[in-house]
Amino acid sequence: MDKIGFIGVGKVGTAFGVRLAEKGFRIAGAMDILPQESARFAASVDGCRVYETAQALADEMDFVFITTTDDAIGEVATEVRWTSGQMVVHCSGANSTAVLAPARDRGSYVGCIHPCNSFASIEQSLENLPGSTFTLEAEEPVLGELKRFVTALNGSWMKLCEEDKALYHASVCIACNYFYTLVHLATDLWRHFDISQSDAVDAFMPILRGTLNNIEHVGYPGCLTGPIARGDVTTIRKHVEALTEREPRLVPLYKALGLETIPIGVAKGTLSREKAAELKALLAG
Ligand SMILES: NC(=O)c1ccc[n+]([C@@H]2O[C@H](COP(=O)([O-])OP(=O)(O)OC[C@H]3O[C@@H](n4cnc5c(N)ncnc54)[C@H](OP(=O)(O)O)[C@@H]3O)[C@@H](O)[C@H]2O)c1
Repeated sequence: MDKIGFIGVGKVGTAFGVRLAEKGFRIAGAMDILPQESARFAASVDGCRVYETAQALADEMDFVFITTTDDAIGEVATEVRWTSGQMVVHCSGANSTAVLAPARDRGSYVGCIHPCNSFASIEQSLENLPGSTFTLEAEEPVLGELKRFVTALNGSWMKLCEEDKALYHASVCIACNYFYTLVHLATDLWRHFDISQSDAVDAFMPILRGTLNNIEHVGYPGCLTGPIARGDVTTIRKHVEALTEREPRLVPLYKALGLETIPIGVAKGTLSREKAAELKALLAG
């Protein structure tokens, strides 16, 4: 079986390595700029050897994951003398295979496999990776290998071309990273009621789970609830007034998101054109 190695064994490298090893893939090498990380990785994968340099690892592997931080992918791709026929991939969502051009120029096959998920710690990464959607940018023979990984991880895949990677990653950033920001802003407001942010987060968990549940099981536009879906202009006016008085920096964001919510309410059929026009006038002002 092909020997698979990882250069950079943080959250994503560890999750791929450990989960693929469990499915019978031969995870044979690990190298990280932090030796303790390589040792931790090797201790959790049977038969995995630690390499001191990226070159030493690449010399012995058939398939190499560059799972370093994004900025280091190009450096690793440039510094290593790749072998013709070897497969080299990275897991960045924003970078395309262009960053692996030095490996391609040496006759390696290159690709990207981006797990469309969020990995905040090693433990959570191991839990979150299986079942993810994976975005693949690759041609054969790498594409076939990547699909085998996705199948083993009970995931689903979609193929993207190089030109669409940045826009794709912007969408992931809005849905995931800025979702964190929205919840952070919402729960931070609870300091006005002398409730800590961590208590506010606990209090929000049921509505957050309910919201995701509605997106998954009701879908857009029917999942939208709240004053905009109902056309409650008075309630929205009260929100704007309260924020203007007590947290004015959030007013532009609140209004911008409200304006983007109006078309969902109209599409749902519960927000009339007249009420939508009233809301638009209030929020655009
Ligand atoms: N985290 C996510 O939610 C997520 C989701 C999807 C895709 N990704 C992608 O997955 C890749 C890895 O991200 P991650 O979150 O796993 O990062 P991470 O936890 O920071 O792990 C990266 C590891 O690579 C090491 N490293 C940096 N430069 C290196 C080099 N030149 N040679 C060897 N090791 C090096 C880092 O060491 P230092 O800490 O010393 O730099 C770190 O231990 C990135 O391309 C990222 O875009 C991440």
